[in-house]
Amino acid sequence: MRKKATVIGAGNVGATAAMRLAEKELADVVLLDVLEGVPAGKALDLTEAAPIEKHDAKIIGVTGDYAQARDSDIVIITAGIPRKPGMSRDDLLSTNMGIMSSVTREVAAVAPEAVLIIVSNPLDAMCHVAYEVSGFPRNRVMGMAGVLDSARFRAFIAMELGVSVENTHAFVLGGHGDTMVPLPRYSTVAGIPITELMSKERIDALVERTRNGGAEIVGLLKTGSAYYAPASAAVEMAEAILKDKNKILPCAAFLDGEYGIKDLFIGVPVKLGENGVEEIVEIQLTDSEKEALEHSADAVRKLVEDMERLKS
Ligand code: NAI
Ligand code: 2OP
Repeated sequence: MRKKATVIGAGNVGATAAMRLAEKELADVVLLDVLEGVPAGKALDLTEAAPIEKHDAKIIGVTGDYAQARDSDIVIITAGIPRKPGMSRDDLLSTNMGIMSSVTREVAAVAPEAVLIIVSNPLDAMCHVAYEVSGFPRNRVMGMAGVLDSARFRAFIAMELGVSVENTHAFVLGGHGDTMVPLPRYSTVAGIPITELMSKERIDALVERTRNGGAEIVGLLKTGSAYYAPASAAVEMAEAILKDKNKILPCAAFLDGEYGIKDLFIGVPVKLGENGVEEIVEIQLTDSEKEALEHSADAVRKLVEDMERLKS
């Protein structure tokens, strides 16, 4: 049977994710937004590209009609406002928590068995909203950030060493913010750790560029934030789930004691399959890596507390 994916938010990330889902024939796609006409227009445009792109995925765009999302296997939530130059991801908190809450309530009512992939920022905090409002088990709510941050790190490693991106692997853990935790020891080129291929100074420079990856693009675009790589990252997660691949990817997952962290969404390696997060993979961290992850967890915890204050 054909799979069904709903993408909430037909903006830059959402529309690009819909395009990639369809072009990879991963699922039929429902693109939903609050805007009149925009989701329908983008869906029709994508449908008209299908004969050239050679896929038979059905794509529809709807305005606020959640009935069309009924029984989706997967729902990618990108609804919200993006950053403008000078704004941090955290500046989006109060607006996006309201949007995430209302969207999740609607989604959970029509697609109670779906796996939710959260994209809206601030990412880790938005996962908490979706988890609480949906009432879904923790394996079916996750956030996209680590795949994107790791892809950025991989792109910079490939550029630095003049090798194919396909030779690269990288892990970036932690929250999706300034405290994210790139792990050079677990980042490799053809299986060789980059710590054996580059000086510490060059690694530090690439780590810094990865941490600022989102802001670098906001600074160039000026009117919004990155969307091609974020959409690719969300769709890589969706593909692993829809095809039950048991693929290990860094994702924001709700921790219940793993890595010594409890009751918090944060980026860690997880195995993604048909049930969503099939397993949280615990890798060995050095003391300084653990400290960095804990520091990042503290930053996410503070945002969650800020949300509690905003709610009351
Ligand atoms: P965008 O502004 O292009 O699109 C957002 C869309 O959400 C708009 O079309 C808007 O009408 C829609 N929307 C707003 N409220 C809605 C509601 N209640 N129901 C349905 N749709 C609603 O923004 P873009 O660039 O697509 O980014 C979307 C979000 O994803 C932002 O919060 C951004 O910060 C975040 N983001 C997160 C990344 C990550 O790594 N986790 C990477 C890139 C973006
Ligand atoms: C990014 O990292 C804005 O979170 C988004 O590009």
